[in-house]
Amino acid sequence: MGGKMIYFLVLMVMICESCNGGIVHKVGESSGWTTLNITSSYYNSWSTSKNFQVGDTILFEYNKEFHNVVRVTHKNFNACNSTAPYASWATGNDSFPITKQGHYYFICGLHGHCRAGQRVDIRVVQRTPSQGPSPSPLIDGPDSAAPAPAPSAVHPSPKSASSSLHSHFKLLMFVVATTALAF
Ligand SMILES: *[C@@H]1O[C@H](CO)[C@@H](O)[C@H](O)[C@H]1NC(C)=O
Ligand SMILES: *[C@@H]1O[C@H](CO)[C@@H](O)[C@H](O)[C@H]1NC(C)=O
Ligand SMILES: *[C@@H]1O[C@H](CO)[C@@H](O)[C@H](O)[C@H]1NC(C)=O
Repeated sequence: MGGKMIYFLVLMVMICESCNGGIVHKVGESSGWTTLNITSSYYNSWSTSKNFQVGDTILFEYNKEFHNVVRVTHKNFNACNSTAPYASWATGNDSFPITKQGHYYFICGLHGHCRAGQRVDIRVVQRTPSQGPSPSPLIDGPDSAAPAPAPSAVHPSPKSASSSLHSHFKLLMFVVATTALAF
């Protein structure tokens, strides 16, 4: 009985280490996603100070009456052009799960907001070897003008916010259930 419990605890710790936590990065920290009180480099400074990894989540919190979130290509990011987005969100509390390495470009689609600085380039770096399974190479290098990952990687529904956490949880439950059967 006691040994079984300890075995389960050890198993859970092992699984949680491999799932790497999945950090939620709130864009702009306490300011959130806004045009108020920001400089044109505000979100760039914020994103370059972070270490984004596959499994993390990007969280946009904002007043939905004044802002939205539009994911665009690198080219349309530079041009502040939101007319052909990969996806867009407008709930005021939108999560984007990072599923691949590369660049993810987000802008506010409301008139003038992107030009005022409400845009962010999220660069998801290669995981360091000590932090988990070895990844595939960068899909969109720092200087590349190639489009970001295909729209199929996008989860437009806010419900999918923690899908990667859910999948880790499902894996955990599967392993626990399988192990329990084996005893
Ligand atoms: C903008 O910044 C000023 C000074 O830092 C602060 O007093 C003010 O409350 C801020 N306004 C908003 C809307 O955050
Ligand atoms: C915005 O981007 C779309 C698709 O990439 C393009 O067709 C359109 O001409 C662009 N608009 C402007 C004003 O550049
Ligand atoms: C945003 O949604 C998350 C859950 O997805 C929730 O925990 C959080 O409190 C929400 N934030 C706001 C400001 O509504």
